[in-house]
Amino acid sequence: MEAAGVVIVGAGIAGLSAALASAEAEDVCVIAGEGPRTSSSARAQGGLAAALSEGDDPALHAADTLRAGAGLCDAQRVRELTEEAPGVVAWLAQFGVPFDRDSSGRLALGREGGHTRERIVHAGGDATGHFITEALWQAAARHPRIDIRREHCVGIAQDATGRAVGVWTWDGARQRFVAARRAVGLATGGVGALFGRTSNPPSAVGAGVALAYHAGATLANLEFVQFHPTLWLGRDGEAMLLSEALRGAGAVLVTEGGPPLFADPADNLRTRDVVALAIARAEAEGHRVYLDATQVRDVAARFPSIAARLRRAGLDLASQPIPVTPGAHFLMGGVEADLAGRTSVPGLFALGETACTGVHGANRLASNSLLECVVMGLRFGEAVREEPVGMHPPEDPVWLLRPEQDQAAVPELAPILWRSVGLVRDETGLRAALVELEGMADRYPGSGAVLAASLIARSALWRRESRGSHVRMDALAPVPAYARPSRMCKAHRAAT
Ligand code: SIN
Repeated sequence: MEAAGVVIVGAGIAGLSAALASAEAEDVCVIAGEGPRTSSSARAQGGLAAALSEGDDPALHAADTLRAGAGLCDAQRVRELTEEAPGVVAWLAQFGVPFDRDSSGRLALGREGGHTRERIVHAGGDATGHFITEALWQAAARHPRIDIRREHCVGIAQDATGRAVGVWTWDGARQRFVAARRAVGLATGGVGALFGRTSNPPSAVGAGVALAYHAGATLANLEFVQFHPTLWLGRDGEAMLLSEALRGAGAVLVTEGGPPLFADPADNLRTRDVVALAIARAEAEGHRVYLDATQVRDVAARFPSIAARLRRAGLDLASQPIPVTPGAHFLMGGVEADLAGRTSVPGLFALGETACTGVHGANRLASNSLLECVVMGLRFGEAVREEPVGMHPPEDPVWLLRPEQDQAAVPELAPILWRSVGLVRDETGLRAALVELEGMADRYPGSGAVLAASLIARSALWRRESRGSHVRMDALAPVPAYARPSRMCKAHRAAT
């Protein structure tokens, strides 16, 4: 039997941070799938938020995070997250992450929506996720205690008591069992690809949510999916984010022909829910919306990856407004976990976007996600030392994920989610979507995507109010009775 002290599923920033932190004490096996370049982390543009400037303070960062979270954040965890942020930047720098600096050598700090201070640390201008992921990947690949496998996790192995004791993997030809003596960490990213129009990679189909659900873990807040306001859609159908940092640097949203989307230019930096909704409303009235970055000094040099991609499509960021539209970006909900990733299933941890720790509430503040990935990874490294050591024989798998079913199902379910479980929803649409999605379950057995989509729709139906990242047309305001997380698990399929 193959075994490691810790088995981590996923090779984005959460998974790699967790692997490096736990490898200080344990041997680690990373089930890396297609590797870090296909993770959501690698696509992150804007950066990582940390109160580092003079006049800033973690308490101000926390206050901005709580405001964005629309009454659903766990305030204590937000405090811890924001206090640990400066240390996270230092921890990443030791792996050689080339954070951008100003002419006097200090970290260059950008601004994004909802932040009241300049506090976004970035690398390569607009390629922060790529540079952090690469640095951590290189460190993990060199680490004598970390074994990286290009396999996919298809099941969580549990013993007779329900403890997670390993994973079942699939390499395209063979299924294997890898035992975990202390812990299994799920860091598979979010669900954006379920919506079709997304900033996420195709792999973001909720595998972690589906695996944890079948292991019996409690899920929370699945209805909260953040829609980023400014995606550019290429002709090939591929979407690219136009980082919010562009608006932080002075770019503004305009409607076709040039009039500004917002009368007050400061509104361009409101939180994502507000900006995305304003764009969606303009679109519903038949207006296209553009991001005009032509007034941003040295824009192509400051945002080189975005400018290069647009140039390949024949567009010039420096001299012409670029068409934008909202798209699914981030899952605030997920597998309920504390900041070390502990879930309700012993031995099973959820990390990064796969987890719902409560730090994002109903709406994530920009650039807090990479921060959460690293904070969780570091705490996971500490927490696994306290887990009991054992080599427990697994029971037969309760459920196995079949990734080929996801490939077939996603094109069918994406229009349903986009239409009825998107930025703007109502009960009638959600009920119809749920019937369609649950009807797909038999046709796509083993599809984590179909399961995750149904669970999202089910949670969205429960939350009869408008809060944070979405608007319910049949309940336009927040309702005090819903000022709490939703929860769901396999034993009680309905959200409560
Ligand atoms: C962006 O660069 O606009 C995205 C950053 C984030 O999601 O926090």
